Amino acid sequence: CGIVGYLGFRDAYPVLIKGLKRLEYRGYDSAGVAIFDGTDIQLSKTKGKVSDLEARANIEIKNNGTMGLGHTRWATHGVPNDVNSHPHYSNSGNLIMIHNGIIENYQSLKKELIKRGYTFKSDTDTEVLVNLIEDIQIKEKHKLGKAVQIALNQVVGAYAIAVFDKTKPNEIVVAKLGSPLAIGVGENEFFIASDASPFIEYTKNAIYLEDEEMAIIRREKGIKVRKIVDDSLIDPYIQELQLNLEQIEKGGFEHFMLKEIYEQPEAILDTFRGRLKADEAIIKMAGVEDNMKRFLNADRIIVVACGTSWHAGLVSEYIFEDLARIPVEVEYASEFRYRNPVITDKDIVIAISQSGETADTLAAIKLAKSKGAFVFGVCNVVGSSIARETHTGAYTHAGPEIGVASTKAFTTQITVLTLMALRLARAKGTITSSEFRHHLIELELIPDKVREVLESNEYIKEIAASYKDSKNFLYLGRGYNFPVALEGALKLKEISYIHAEGYPAAEMKHGPIALIDEFMPVVVIATNKGHYDKIVSNIQEIKSRNGKIIAVVTKGDVDVRNIADHVIEVPETMEALTPMLTTIPLQLLSYHIAVMLGKNVDQPRNLAKAVTVE
Ligand code: G6P
Repeated sequence: CGIVGYLGFRDAYPVLIKGLKRLEYRGYDSAGVAIFDGTDIQLSKTKGKVSDLEARANIEIKNNGTMGLGHTRWATHGVPNDVNSHPHYSNSGNLIMIHNGIIENYQSLKKELIKRGYTFKSDTDTEVLVNLIEDIQIKEKHKLGKAVQIALNQVVGAYAIAVFDKTKPNEIVVAKLGSPLAIGVGENEFFIASDASPFIEYTKNAIYLEDEEMAIIRREKGIKVRKIVDDSLIDPYIQELQLNLEQIEKGGFEHFMLKEIYEQPEAILDTFRGRLKADEAIIKMAGVEDNMKRFLNADRIIVVACGTSWHAGLVSEYIFEDLARIPVEVEYASEFRYRNPVITDKDIVIAISQSGETADTLAAIKLAKSKGAFVFGVCNVVGSSIARETHTGAYTHAGPEIGVASTKAFTTQITVLTLMALRLARAKGTITSSEFRHHLIELELIPDKVREVLESNEYIKEIAASYKDSKNFLYLGRGYNFPVALEGALKLKEISYIHAEGYPAAEMKHGPIALIDEFMPVVVIATNKGHYDKIVSNIQEIKSRNGKIIAVVTKGDVDVRNIADHVIEVPETMEALTPMLTTIPLQLLSYHIAVMLGKNVDQPRNLAKAVTVE
C-alpha cells in the first residue's frame, strides 16, 4: 500500500491525489482521501484506481482544506471494495487513519473492542487499530500521540500509519514499524509518504522514520520524533534528497516499463560509475573492499531474494561459482526464513531487492544476522529498509523503477553481482589477470550492446503480433541463460496474464515436451557460447513436434536461423555477460504482447511493486 499526508497552507486535495498517483505502483486495488475542511472531515474512497477515486472525489469532496490523508491499497485483510478502502474512521468519527502493513493480532484486539461496544464497518485490521487508539484516548484521557503509542505497544505486525483527530486539527501522528515512512519538511508545511516521490517538487528535505519510531507533526510547531517503546525523544536526521521530478515521470514514453527498458544502457553505466575502470583493470566496490577478508574466508554465499531479484540471484550463482569458485545457494527469502536453515558466521548472505522493502527478504536478513552471518545488500532504493538493515552493500543506481514488472533493476542487479564476482575472482586468483582484464573490457561494452539490442524493437513487435493470442509460452535456456528463461516467462505472466513457464532446456524432455504442438510458442535463448550444440539439439526436438520457435541468438548465427521460426540477434559477448543482453528482447516481447492485449502494463492486476507484507 501507499500512504500520503499533508499538513500546511496549500489545498491538500491536489497534493494528495498527485502523490497517490506516484505511489500507485505500491498497490492499486482501492484508494481514498480524507480532507479536514476546518470543521469536519470530507471523505471519499473507492475500489479501483486513483483515477476512479478522482472521479468520485471531484463530486464528494465539497470543501478544500489544508490538512489531509490519502491511501492507495494492496489488499491484505478484506477484499478490495469501497468499505475496506482507507482512510478508516474510529467509531466516534473523530479519528481518521491510513495504514500500510498488517496487524497480525487484529482478531484478538477486535474481540476485546467488540466486548467494549465497538462496531466495525470493514473487514480490515486498520479499523481495529484506529478504534484501539480511540479506546485508549477516551479511557485513559490521553492525547492522540500518547494513545497511538500505547496502542502500538499492543500491536504485533508491521505498519506505517498516519492518523489525526478532527477535534485537534493541527496535528498528524505517524508511526513506523516494518513499512516505510518518509516525512517531507517544507517551510511551514509537512508531507507524509511511503517514499519521497509525492513531495519531491515541494521540498528536498526528508526524515525517514526508523522502525519503532513515531512522529507528532504540528502545524507551525514542527516535528517531534519519539521511540514507540520507551517514549524517548530522538533528534531526527533531515536528509537532502537527490531524486528529481523528471526521474519519476514518463519522459515521452507510453509506459514506465518501456521507458525503463530503454534506460538500461544508462542505468548499467550508472552502476559502473566509480567502480569499473577497464583501462586500468580495476574494480572497486567499497562494500567488498572493506570486507575483503570475510569474502575470501567465506565458506559459501547464500543469496536471498524474491521475484525478479531472485532470478538475478540465480544468474549470480553461475558467475560466482564459475569465476570466483565460491559455492552459492540461491534461496527464496520466504522459504529460507521459515526453514530453520543452517547458517554460520562463515556464510555471507547477499540480499537482493529493488525496492529494499520486500518483507520476506527483510525477515530473511534479520534471521541470517541473528545466526551471525555477514549480510550484503544489493538494493536500488537508497536508504530503504533492506539497505539499512544489511551490514553493507552496493546500490544498483538504476534510478526509480515505477513499472511493476522489473526491468532495469534486474539488469543492474546482474551488473553489481558480476562486478562483485569479478573482483573476488581477481582477489582469490581464480582467474588470471588477462582473463580479468578481458572481462572488464567486455563489460564496459555492454551498455552499447544493450543499445544495439534495443534496435530490434520493431521486429520484436512484429513477433509479438504473431503470438499475442497464444495461451501458453515456454521459455528455455541453459547455463547462464537458464535464469533468463525464468525471468522471460515471469515478465510475460506478470503483464499479459498469459501462462508461461521457464525451464532449463535439457529438462524439457522430462515433462514440458508433452505440451509442445503447433500452438505452443517456445522462446529459446541460444547464444553461441556454453552449450550451443546442445541447445541446437533441443531446438530440433521442438521443431520436430511442430512447436513455434522464437530464438535469441548471437549476431551472425547460422545453425539456429535454419531451424527457428524467428531469430532475434544480440551482439557477441563473453558467456558470463550474455544475460544482460538476452534479457532485453524478452522484456520487449512481453511488453508488446501485453500492450496489444490491452493490459495495464505498468500496473498489472493483483501485483504490487513493493510487497511489504509476507
Ligand atoms: C514484487 C514485484 C516484483 C519483484 C518482487 C521482489 O513481486 O512485483 O517485480 O521482483 O516483488 O521485489 P524487490 O523489491 O525485493 O526486488
